[in-house]
Amino acid sequence: MSDFSVAIIAAVADNNVIGSGGDLPFRLPTDLKHFKTKTMGHTIVMGRRTFLSLGKPLPRRRTIVVTRTPLADVETAPSLDTALVAAGRPVFLGGGARIYEDGLALADTLFLTRVHASPAGDTFFPALPDGVFRCESSEVGFQSPNDECAFTFEVWRRT
Ligand SMILES: NC(=O)c1ccc[n+]([C@@H]2O[C@H](COP(=O)([O-])OP(=O)(O)OC[C@H]3O[C@@H](n4cnc5c(N)ncnc54)[C@H](OP(=O)(O)O)[C@@H]3O)[C@@H](O)[C@H]2O)c1
Repeated sequence: MSDFSVAIIAAVADNNVIGSGGDLPFRLPTDLKHFKTKTMGHTIVMGRRTFLSLGKPLPRRRTIVVTRTPLADVETAPSLDTALVAAGRPVFLGGGARIYEDGLALADTLFLTRVHASPAGDTFFPALPDGVFRCESSEVGFQSPNDECAFTFEVWRRT
């Protein structure tokens, strides 16, 4: 039983950067494991560029790619709304920027990894609307030697 219906999951740097040149702007294997643990067995909706950066559907997760151009070997939907109808609930929204922007109006939960760095980048997480979400928990992540900076796991809920 999940404790959310529609959840955004994102790793967001202190300067709100989430992407650079079609890839992640930071190297955090511990956060990738966290992402895998949270999303395993679930449905995840993502934009075309995010999917292309992964290269294939995520193993043991139903992956729905929002794009106006159907792709081979992965389920696609022409809009976020149609993706969400197909996905049912619960569902994760896995980026990029527009999926997050549109998803903030729909999500009841945000799983945010606050990445304590300010990398250069070209893709940004949107500002959280005032008073709509409250931070339920904040836990400093254990930084392994392979993680290039510190990070904090936050869970936000719609008020
Ligand atoms: N840090 C993180 O947690 C995180 C998470 C995800 C992604 N990222 C990074 O973010 C970057 C990719 O994000 P992005 O914002 O550039 O691209 P994106 O959202 O992954 O893909 C954009 C494309 O997806 C489709 N799309 C997205 N939202 C749509 C909507 N609401 N309605 C219709 N179509 C929609 C469109 O595809 P068509 O043009 O084909 O119609 C659009 O051109 C990469 O650098 C990636 O590594 C970071």
